[in-house]
Amino acid sequence: MNTGSVAYPGRPKVHRESLPPGPPELPIVGQSFRYITDQLGLLHEAAKYGDLATVSTKPTLIYLVNHPDLIRELFVTNHQSVGRGFLTGTYRYLMGNGLVTADGPLHLRQRRLMQPQFHHSRIAGYAAVMTDFANRHEQEWQDGQRIDVAQEMSDLTLHIVVKTLFGLDPPDTVRRIGEAFEVSNDYITIRGNQPVPLRKLLHRLPVPLTHRFKRGLAYLDETVYSLIEQRRQSGLDGDDLLSLLLNVRDDEAENPADAVMTDQQVRDEAITLFAAGHETTAVALTWTWYLLATHPDIQSRFQAELDEVLNGRIPTPGDISDLPFTERVLTESMRLYPPIWSTGRMTYQPITLGGWEIPAGAGLVAPQLLIQRDPRWFDQPLEFRPDRWTPQFRENLPAFAYYPFGGGPRLCIGEGFARMEAILILATLGQRWTVRHDAQHEVELMPLVSLRPKGGMPLFLERRTRAATRAAA
Ligand code: HEM
Repeated sequence: MNTGSVAYPGRPKVHRESLPPGPPELPIVGQSFRYITDQLGLLHEAAKYGDLATVSTKPTLIYLVNHPDLIRELFVTNHQSVGRGFLTGTYRYLMGNGLVTADGPLHLRQRRLMQPQFHHSRIAGYAAVMTDFANRHEQEWQDGQRIDVAQEMSDLTLHIVVKTLFGLDPPDTVRRIGEAFEVSNDYITIRGNQPVPLRKLLHRLPVPLTHRFKRGLAYLDETVYSLIEQRRQSGLDGDDLLSLLLNVRDDEAENPADAVMTDQQVRDEAITLFAAGHETTAVALTWTWYLLATHPDIQSRFQAELDEVLNGRIPTPGDISDLPFTERVLTESMRLYPPIWSTGRMTYQPITLGGWEIPAGAGLVAPQLLIQRDPRWFDQPLEFRPDRWTPQFRENLPAFAYYPFGGGPRLCIGEGFARMEAILILATLGQRWTVRHDAQHEVELMPLVSLRPKGGMPLFLERRTRAATRAAA
């Protein structure tokens, strides 16, 4: 059986002199405790030692990669020698061997088969689902209401992903799928921070967290496998992503039986798309609303563009190219608050990076959150300035100075889907509502799997009467 991962070469033995400099380590434990409790702080400190720095040597050898050229070398030039490896260890409990976790030949095959399903012409077919749910969602909002926009965006993107992926919308089913995902997220984060032997033991014992995770997983499995069976019986004529995955044929397969994905592979890919696509887009939208709320002048320009182009009507994919300011707002928001704040690779073979020999079995982290706020690439990096994204600026920006969707052969497969979804939601809701920041609430980053705001994101809603009147007309 192809497990999708390439054998782990084991933790490398290295001499300190052969490592780039990095923050001082504690005896025996190295930086492992800090890596778990304050990874972002540790990476900030490591960045002071150079563009390639040693973050920790125990229990795993970890490097920080903090320069766009080195990231390109890692993600593109060396892509055949690196993979996800142990970096996605706990994700496998949920995603199995889907695109996010698979490496080597399985990843290449799955990527080849799945890429056409994300062609923009296919994705455009989901636009109406996105705007329809955004419309339904805001029906419950009230003028003057204080909402947690993080929760609202998470609910909205959950409904959209469950409909586009599985063709499902009964509220109770969507709620249960959402709950199973939340428990999985906690499980992946908590277990991911535990030493591997303890993690494996706790995964087998009936402790409460494991129990809740397995119960949620059983519900997800049951739902997905029964949908697969229904689709196969009904002749696969659905237009949701699950049906597309079931319809895929591998023209390069030597054996006809291998030309289709097994039910288990379809299950792994479907759960992977669900997990990778829901939370990330919600986080991108959350920070964008926050930035609009804290920059009223930019919010006014954004709304003026929507009024001029849409005049109160529901946006379609064809409108997106006519909304350049909205696109810049989103682009700049994902620069300051990249939903996936750090992306990494593990070496399966030794590589050379920036002149340093990196042994097999090492982890390399390339944090978007550091690079995309680096004054070497972005003037006044902490300022929210959508206007910086002129065509000339984009052209002169080094590759991998901005990479919220990663890059190289593992570039996010859902980038087009996510960008379209985010812009359609911003355009639908931004025409009707103005958001205002709750000054009482202190905003704090929670850099776990994704970059959520700690304690949610409370914002006040103001109904825009002019646009609302036009929409009703
Ligand atoms: C704003 C929203 C999103 C952000 C910021 C985001 C970001 C990322 C990043 C940083 C990666 C890792 C790339 C790398 O390792 O170089 C990734 C991979 C991936 N994303 Fe997304 N993503 C988003 C939305 C989505 C959506 C909507 C889907 C699916 C519908 C999706 C599916 C995936 C998959 C399957 C992978 C693994 C690709 C591979 O390794 O071949 N993502 N994403």
